[in-house]
Amino acid sequence: MRDNEKKPKQISAREVDPNVPLSRTPIKMMGITLVLVIIASIAVLSKTDRRSIKAYINIPELGETQMQGREIFNRVCAECHGVDGTGDTKIGPPLMHPYHRKEALSDERFLKVVRQGTPEDKWKYGHMPAQINVSDEDAKKILSFFNALRAVNKLGE
Ligand code: HEC
Repeated sequence: MRDNEKKPKQISAREVDPNVPLSRTPIKMMGITLVLVIIASIAVLSKTDRRSIKAYINIPELGETQMQGREIFNRVCAECHGVDGTGDTKIGPPLMHPYHRKEALSDERFLKVVRQGTPEDKWKYGHMPAQINVSDEDAKKILSFFNALRAVNKLGE
């Protein structure tokens, strides 16, 4: 019988010490998980503007210069702005968009953006690098094509 008296009873920590730190409780873990989920959701939602947006447009009959402009555009700019400026990429906005209607984006501004690039501003795709391989002459051809597109897609004056 003496042996039995000395054997320590196996009991859970809670019964021994009612002050077990609260940090170990499931409630706190759930709280932390919840906060992480909320942070992750905000991170995802704040990026939604960076999705690819596709514009559906009409292509007018093009003159010689405009056709050359289209060819240069689709070779140089379409990577970011989509074929004929219709977007559908994750690295640049569609150019066929009300933000870029003639009233909001002048010809001068267009040429300046091609020459100098532009910082992230209206969109969330990052900045546009200066198009150093596009000559002023080529930029004007692109502009001529762009304006022909704007005219038939309700983005003209
Ligand atoms: C590497 C990707 C990339 C390339 C290549 C590129 N752009 Fe851009 N462009 C952008 C991004 C990103 C923006 C949006 C900037 C912002 O947040 O307003 C933009 C914006 C623009 C705008 C709108 C500027 C404004 O003031 O709202 C025009 C016009 C434009 N680009 C024309 C062109 C033309 C023309 C070419 C080809 C010669 C071209 N881009 C090539 C990424 C690019």
